[in-house]
Amino acid sequence: MPYVSTRSWRLAPPGPRGGQVGGSGRSLSRRAIVEASRFRHAGGERETQIEQIDIKNYRLFKRVTLSDLRPLVVVVGANGAGKSTLFDVFSFLKDALTQNVASAVAKRGGFRSLVSRGHNGPIEITIKFRESGGRLATYMLRVGLDGATTRPVVERELLRYRRGQYGKPWHFLDFSRGSGNAITNEAAYGQADAKEQREEYKLESPDVLAIKGLGQFEKFRVVAEFRSLIENWHISDFHISEARPSAEAGFAEHLSTRGDNVAQVAQYLYEQHSDRFDLVLKSMRDRVPGIRDVKAKSTDDGRLVLQFRDGTFQDPFIARYVSDGTIKMFAYLILLNDPKPHPLLAIEEPENQLYPDLLHELSEEFRNYARRGGQVFASTHSPDFVNGVKLDEVFWLVKEDGFSTAYRASKHELLVKLLREGDSLGALWKQGFLGKTAP
Ligand SMILES: Nc1ncnc2c1ncn2[C@@H]1O[C@H](COP(=O)(O)OP(=O)(O)OP(=O)(O)O)[C@@H](O)[C@H]1O
Ligand SMILES: [Mg+2]
Repeated sequence: MPYVSTRSWRLAPPGPRGGQVGGSGRSLSRRAIVEASRFRHAGGERETQIEQIDIKNYRLFKRVTLSDLRPLVVVVGANGAGKSTLFDVFSFLKDALTQNVASAVAKRGGFRSLVSRGHNGPIEITIKFRESGGRLATYMLRVGLDGATTRPVVERELLRYRRGQYGKPWHFLDFSRGSGNAITNEAAYGQADAKEQREEYKLESPDVLAIKGLGQFEKFRVVAEFRSLIENWHISDFHISEARPSAEAGFAEHLSTRGDNVAQVAQYLYEQHSDRFDLVLKSMRDRVPGIRDVKAKSTDDGRLVLQFRDGTFQDPFIARYVSDGTIKMFAYLILLNDPKPHPLLAIEEPENQLYPDLLHELSEEFRNYARRGGQVFASTHSPDFVNGVKLDEVFWLVKEDGFSTAYRASKHELLVKLLREGDSLGALWKQGFLGKTAP
C-alpha cells in the first residue's frame, strides 16, 4: 500500500504522569492502519474537506485566511503573489509529519528565511476540516525556535474536534515542545454527557509532531486517521522529463508526485480498473489528435515503457518521442482517474503545455475528482482554465507592501453582476477585474 507509512516511530519512555504510549498503547495492526488510511473514502463519498486555512508568519503570508473553501479551489495572482507558497504550506505540513519540523524548516532554507521578513515568528498554520458526519476538526501547528538551541521546535500542536454547532470541542491532542496530553477515551466522543479523559505523554523529541508519535497506536484512532489524511495529500511536482523514460517494472497504484511511475500506474489501471482506463483512453482520443491507443509495455530487460499508437502509423511511438503536452495530459488523466482519490490534490499551473481549448474540460475533470472524494487546489495563470471554474471556487492573492492577502472572487459584487450578465470570468480577469478591487 503506497498510501500507508509502515515506519514505526518510537516514543520516549513514559512521561511523568501516565505516559503509557510505549507500554499499554498497542501498535496499530496493519489492517487498522489500512482502514484508517482509507479514511472512509471507499464509497466515493466525501468524508473530509478543508474549510479554512489560516497562515501566520510563513514567508509572504504574514497573516492570511482562506475561508469557505469548496471541493475545488482555484488560486490566481500575479507573479510572486504567493501561489506556490500556499502550496508549499501543504508540503511543509506533510514534511513536518513524515520527517520532523526541524528538517521541514531546514529544507526551506532555515527558520530565518521561512518566517515573514521583519518578524520573528512563530510560524502558525491552522487547518479546519469538515467531515460528512458534521464534525468540525481544527489542527493547529505553531513552530518557533528553541531559545537555548535555536533549533525549530513545535511550540504548540492542537487537534480539536467539535460535533455540531454548539457542542464543546474536545482537544484530542494538545502538545508543546515534545510533551502534552491526549484523550484516552476517544470512543466516548459525541456521547451525551461524556467527559474527556486525558493522559500526559512525552514524544521522543520537541520537533516531532504528536500526530505522528501517537497516530500509530490503536487507541488513538482519530489521531491516526488525521495523520493518514495528511500523509495521503498529493502535492504535484510533475516533471515531464521524469515521466518519459521507461520505468522499472513494478507495481504502483497512485501516481507519484513527480510522475515518474506513470507507466506502472497506467498498467495497474489497465489490469485492475479497466473502466477507469477506458475513460483515460477516450479522453486522450478526444483531445490529442491522432492518438488511438496508449499501452504500458514490458521490455525484454524487465522495464516498462509507455507506447502511444497514432492512427496513421503502424508502429507506436514510445513516450520519449511523443509531445510534452501528450505526456502531460496522459499523466493528468491517470492521476484524475485514480479509483481512490487523494484527500487533497494540489496542482500548480495545470495549463502549461496544454492546448487552451482543453483547459475548460480539465477544470471540469478536477471538479469531478473533487466530487469523488478528493479536494483539489489548483493555481493558474490561464483565463481559459478559469472559464471552466465557478466564482466561489476562485481566490486571488494580492501582494502589497511585501505581504499577500487572499480575496474571494464571489465577494466581489461587480464581478458577480458582470458574470450574471453573461461575461466570462476569464475575459473579466484579462480586463483587470480580478485583483483591482478589494472585496
Ligand atoms: N520570508 C519571506 N518574507 C516575505 N516574503 C517572502 C519571504 N520569502 C519569500 N518571499 C517572497 O514570496 C514570493 C514567493 O512567491 P511565490 O513563489 O509563492 O509566487 P507565485 O504566486 O507562485 O508566483 P509565480 O506566478 O511567479 O509562480 C517572492 O516574491 C518572495 O519575494
Ligand atoms: Mg509559482
